Amino acid sequence: MSVLVTGGAGYIGSHTVVELLNNNMEVIMIDDFSNSKPQVLENIKKITGKDFKFYEIDYSNRKELEKVFKENPDIDGVINFAGFKAVGESVQKPIDYYINNVSGALVLLDTMKKYNVKKFVFSSSATVYGEENEIPYVETMKTGGTTNPYGTTKLFIEQILKDIYKSDNSWDIAILRYFNPIGSHESGLIGEEPQGIPNNLMPYIVRVACGKLKELSIFGNDYPTKDGTGVRDYIHVVDLAKGHVKAIEKLNKERSGLYIYNLGTGIGYSVLDIVNTFEKVTNQKVPYKIVERREGDIAEFYANAEKAKNELGWIAEKSLEDMCRDSWNYIVKNLT
Ligand code: WQD
Repeated sequence: MSVLVTGGAGYIGSHTVVELLNNNMEVIMIDDFSNSKPQVLENIKKITGKDFKFYEIDYSNRKELEKVFKENPDIDGVINFAGFKAVGESVQKPIDYYINNVSGALVLLDTMKKYNVKKFVFSSSATVYGEENEIPYVETMKTGGTTNPYGTTKLFIEQILKDIYKSDNSWDIAILRYFNPIGSHESGLIGEEPQGIPNNLMPYIVRVACGKLKELSIFGNDYPTKDGTGVRDYIHVVDLAKGHVKAIEKLNKERSGLYIYNLGTGIGYSVLDIVNTFEKVTNQKVPYKIVERREGDIAEFYANAEKAKNELGWIAEKSLEDMCRDSWNYIVKNLT
């Protein structure tokens, strides 16, 4: 199977490309390095011992994108990771987020249609469940009520995909709703490197542990959760990547359909669980202070992951200890 991966040099994209290559798929990667580095390409080849085609282009540039489809007539399906993904930044720059994420996806889908490529895997997010749903989240629940433009772009693209499928059910679409991806490939060759000061918890913790940042601010310990700190469903990025392989394989088998899956572990961990597990597994201290709640945060959410297990034969296998160990291993090998 030949798979076009947009944003393939990014954190989740690069881990997915590794798993696609490990499963003997042919990969054509697109990335503009707006939030990734060229070195990632070499490291993917080192990990897998395999090569793949690469185009340094902006996926939303129709002319450049057409060139990729013209030169690769055997593309069977597309996995779309390209897009901006910082919640806080999206509040400051909504137009950039709607142009890059939504218009970009539309240019990609329109070009796919033109070249009759109709198998599409979309990188969505648990954010689309909003704040009203009961936990654990189930795919049949109502979506909406996103609290930031980043989450809203995911909601919009999910709706676009539903409308496309309704207009032409020869499309084969998988919407994958991620929970909280953390960790890195065990080789330590690829991992998460957010630009600037990290917004997310684990990238912040590892930078405190190696001394690049002074201390962790825990955003509130007065939530109605087991220890008062926020609870999330953390999933190892390699498990997440394997979920994409299962999804594209399913689309390859099916003739048509629109499928929605939660990719989570089904287990919620608090911020203090993460800090304590990280310290235990790595023997590194993570000094922290409790501060005010962060605007837009909700107390607790995690996945019901039964559907992906039953329909894709996929479950998350790695433990929280693995996630902490691999996150630290990447930092030791790259940022210290
Ligand atoms: C996790 C928990 C914070 C940082 C977001 C997006 C989601 C996805 C993942 C992209 C919360 C607490 C965090 C810190 C803290 N984005 N925290 N101090 O907000 O659950 O999800 O990132 O794919 O779509 O919504 O992730 O890692 O920011 O926060 O106390 O310095 O850690 O309050 O409880 P979040 P997060």
